[in-house]
Amino acid sequence: MILPRRPALLLPGLIILSLVFLFIANYALAACDLSGTSQTTIKLSLDPSAEERPLQPRAIVTIYTPVMDKTYDTGLADVLLLAHSFNNLPAADKKDVEFVVAFVGELAASAKQSFMNLGVRLLELPDLGASKKWTVSENAYKSCLYLFGLEAFSDILYVDAGVVFSKVFDSSVLLFKPSISRMNVMLDQVSRLDLKGYYLDQDFFNNYFDGSLSPSCMAWSHLPESLNLQLVDSRSQDAVSSSQIVPHNFWTHKPTIDSPVFTLYNRWKATVRSLFELQTREQKRSDVGLIPNSIQDLTTMLKANTFSHTFVILTIMTLDTEKKFFDRTMGNRERYCKRHPEVSHYLESKITAKNAVWQKVYATQKIINDYDWVWLLDGRDAMIMNGEVELRALIGMLILERPDLDTDIIIARDISEAMNAGSFFLRNSTWTRDVFIPEWFTFENHPDSETRDHKWQEQWAIIRLYEDDKIELPWHTQQLDQKRQYLFNSYTFGPQPTFKPGDFVLHSPEGGRGMDLYKFMKEHQLKEF
Ligand SMILES: *[C@@H]1O[C@H](CO)[C@@H](O)[C@H](O)[C@H]1NC(C)=O
Repeated sequence: MILPRRPALLLPGLIILSLVFLFIANYALAACDLSGTSQTTIKLSLDPSAEERPLQPRAIVTIYTPVMDKTYDTGLADVLLLAHSFNNLPAADKKDVEFVVAFVGELAASAKQSFMNLGVRLLELPDLGASKKWTVSENAYKSCLYLFGLEAFSDILYVDAGVVFSKVFDSSVLLFKPSISRMNVMLDQVSRLDLKGYYLDQDFFNNYFDGSLSPSCMAWSHLPESLNLQLVDSRSQDAVSSSQIVPHNFWTHKPTIDSPVFTLYNRWKATVRSLFELQTREQKRSDVGLIPNSIQDLTTMLKANTFSHTFVILTIMTLDTEKKFFDRTMGNRERYCKRHPEVSHYLESKITAKNAVWQKVYATQKIINDYDWVWLLDGRDAMIMNGEVELRALIGMLILERPDLDTDIIIARDISEAMNAGSFFLRNSTWTRDVFIPEWFTFENHPDSETRDHKWQEQWAIIRLYEDDKIELPWHTQQLDQKRQYLFNSYTFGPQPTFKPGDFVLHSPEGGRGMDLYKFMKEHQLKEF
């Protein structure tokens, strides 16, 4: 499960920075106890540099630690959401302030691009944990000591929503005047301590500011609680709405409507959507997806890392299809895409292949690179019946079921125990693009006439490829048993389970064996989404 160690915080619409910085004027860390320390010069590299883009006098700094497992990186989303909320503040509130993301180690190119596009200034920190050979070195928080040396800024607000320890110093929101001397004192002290715990930086700060290591004169002061409201679930509505910074756990818990944070949850959800729309518009991809209604769906998406995935429904339908059928299919796909903005629809109406079904393969090849998944869905005989089904959760659930596979194809078997290509999924992967599709194509004009002319055409090719095992198809393909076909390919006929109301997709293959899709729907008084 992805439980960010410290969920990043939510900036409620208005973070009154001027108020925050007022406190620093009153309680500025006095430069006492710092004499006689040797100056270590540590290169803190900013990107863009101060020459490329002049620094604002003050900074809000947060730390980003990439996750290395296969789950969705909520930490990246949290930092991007924070930067996006900051950008959306009224100009007066962010006057003279800039948003800085500090990190340690390698930053993925796509993450870097996303940060840059949001105007974030990146700050690469040395890996303090590694240089001190600390065993717990999996995150960058401990390197936040270096932020104390960032004298390029007059004041720094360090934000990281922490877990509250009553009566101890909570470093998750920290406001300070940078001073290289202080940083050196801290670095010197930290070397002599045996701090290996999980909350290393917080342990240290507690010692430094309030414990055995504290400076001889008062060098710090508590910020008002409203700047870092903890235990929000047990707070009153008033306390929550008047607070400036609230840590959240919305990735794992959806508050109920009577919870004091319900309004904040909705605001968070809206911020996620607004970031999704901005990124999709400006960089043609997004690091986030929309928050689904169900928390189980969200959990599945995060675990399977499908939360930010995009899909395209591929329909092959010529323009001479009878208008009422054509319009009905188009309307159905359009409504689904509108309900799920991460899903697009692609209509291929020109047939250049020897048979319309082979056009699927040409079209797939053309579009697969622009999406995470292609959903090949028959135009004339298949309808989306339940628009609430979340593809990201459905595909995520199936991926999680088979950790032994490299899932690139998801397809269901039918009554004949054969894979049915009327509704199935292909992932945009190197294997799909460079191995599977080229091999699939060889069947259009297969040298063996029985294979070439088999009535199942492109579907026969998949079945053959699976059996031949020439391209390791079984390692890339999840075949759903007929009993679970209903997940995305419910038939109008055949052994149970056939279509029931609530099923995702209704499909009537082979012309429905005497009763086509529309006739079936009419007979059973069914209406598509
Ligand atoms: C599809 O895969 C290619 C190569 O792996 C990648 O460059 C491209 O960004 C992917 N498209 C999407 C939308 O993820």
